[in-house]
Amino acid sequence: MTPPPLLIVILAAGMGVRMCSQRAKVLHRLGGRSLLGHALSQAEAAGATALAVVVPPASAEVRAEALAHAPAAAVFEQTQQAGTADAVLAAREALSRHAGDVLVLFADTPLIEVATLQQLIAALNQGANVAVLGFEPDDPAGYGRLILDGGGRVRAIREHKDASPSERTQRLCNAGAMAFRVPSLLELLGRIGNDNASREYYLTDAVALAYEAGLAVLPVLCAPHEAMGINTREQLAEAEAIFQRRARVKAMRNGVSMIAPDTVWFSYDTTIARDVTIEPNVFFGPGVAIGEGAEILANSHLVGARIGAGARVGPFARLRPGAEVGQDVHVGNFVEIKNASLEAGAKANHLAYIGDGRVGAGANIGAGAIFCNYDGYNKHFTDVGAGAFIGSNAALIAPVTIGERAYVASGSVISRNVEADALAIARGPQEVRPGWAAKFRGLMQNRRKKR
Ligand code: UD1
Ligand code: CA
Repeated sequence: MTPPPLLIVILAAGMGVRMCSQRAKVLHRLGGRSLLGHALSQAEAAGATALAVVVPPASAEVRAEALAHAPAAAVFEQTQQAGTADAVLAAREALSRHAGDVLVLFADTPLIEVATLQQLIAALNQGANVAVLGFEPDDPAGYGRLILDGGGRVRAIREHKDASPSERTQRLCNAGAMAFRVPSLLELLGRIGNDNASREYYLTDAVALAYEAGLAVLPVLCAPHEAMGINTREQLAEAEAIFQRRARVKAMRNGVSMIAPDTVWFSYDTTIARDVTIEPNVFFGPGVAIGEGAEILANSHLVGARIGAGARVGPFARLRPGAEVGQDVHVGNFVEIKNASLEAGAKANHLAYIGDGRVGAGANIGAGAIFCNYDGYNKHFTDVGAGAFIGSNAALIAPVTIGERAYVASGSVISRNVEADALAIARGPQEVRPGWAAKFRGLMQNRRKKR
C-alpha cells in the first residue's frame, strides 16, 4: 500500500528572545548550517510530499533561507507570534489543500534523526491518529510534559509553566514533533484557546482535544540527545557538541583516523573517504570533500575545498572556497588557496597565496610565491602550466600565463606571459663590489676614534 501524502509544516516564526540576538533564532548555525536548513533537510529525508514553512513577518532573510534549501516549499508568515498552534494555522492554506498525513516540526530541534521521524509517521500506519514524540531529558525544566492515561495513551501535554508540582515530577517530555492523521485537523486546531500562563495558542493542546474526541494519541520515544530544543546560546553550543560527537563517530566508522577526534570540527556535509588521516585541530567548514588516503595535518582550516586521493594538506594550511587539490598534491604550511586548482602531483609546500588560478600537474610553487589576483576592482586568473617551476618569492601579476615546464626565477615580478620551457627573470640585476664592506667598516671605525 502506498503511504498517504505527507505535508510537513516547519515552525520557524518564534522570536527566539532567549537567544538575545538580532538574528532570527532559526538562522543560527549548527554544524555549518542554519537550524532552519537542518529542519528542512529532516523534512525532506522523512519523505515530505509537500512542505510548508512558517516564518516571522517581514523577515526576508528567513524566507530566503527556507527557499534556498527547499525552493518548492510554501512559505507563510505568522503575523503575530501567538504560539505554536497559531503558527500551524498560519499555514492554513497548505493544510486545507492537503489530504493526507501532517507532520509538524519545530525548526529549533535540529538533532532529531530521520529514523525517529519515520517511526512517528509509522505510528499513524499502526493506528494512531496523533503521534507525539517524547523523551526523558536529564533536566525537564522548560519542556511540556506528556500526561499518559492508564493505557499508555497521551491524555494531554502540560506546558512547564502551566504544570502542577506533581505534573512537573513527570519526566516524559514533549520533543515537539507531532504527526497527525486527523481528517478535520484544521477544525481541531481552531478549537485551541489561549487560556494559559503565556496567553499563547499551544499546539500541544491539540492532544487533549484529540484525546477527548476519542482519537488515539500515542507517544513515540526517542533518545534525549536527539530531542534537545535550542532556545539559548548555551543550548546551541550543547547541540553543537552533540552534532560534532556524532560526526566524529560516523567518520571513524567510515574508516577515517583521527589522532585527537575531539579537536576535529565537521560540517553537516563534510565527506571523507576511507583511510584519510586527520591530525589535531582541523576545522572543516561547509562544502569539504576529502579523497581516499589523504592526510590533513594539524591546524588546517578548510571551507568549500575538494582534496584528491593521497594528497597531503598542512600543517597550518588554509583552503578557501573553490580550492581543488588534486591527487597526490602537497600543500604545506602557511599556504592559502582560494578558487584555484592544483592538478595531480603539484606542490606548494610553504608560504604561498594561490588565488583564482590553475597550477598544472607536477608544477612547483616556491616559498613565498604570490598570485596577485586582485587589482582593487576585479579578480584575474593565473595559469601555471604543467611541470612549471615558480621560484621563491615570485609575484605573478594576473592575468598571466606561465607555460608548461617554464622557470620563473626567484624574486621575479611577472606581469607578462611566459612561454613553455622558457626562463623568466624579472628582478634587479645583482651588483657585487669586492672589498667594499671592509673599506666601509674601516672608515666608520676611524671616525669613531676621532670623536
Ligand atoms: C515547545 C513546546 C513544548 C516542547 C518544546 C520542545 C509548545 C506550546 N510547547 O516549547 O511542549 O517540550 O517545544 O522543544 O508547543 N514558533 C512559531 N510561532 C510561535 C511560537 C513558536 O513559529 O508563535 C516556533 C519557534 O520558532 C520554534 C517552535 O515553534 O521553532 C517552538 O517554539 P518555542 O517557543 O521554542 O517553544 P518551547 O517553549 O520550546
Ligand atoms: Ca523551543
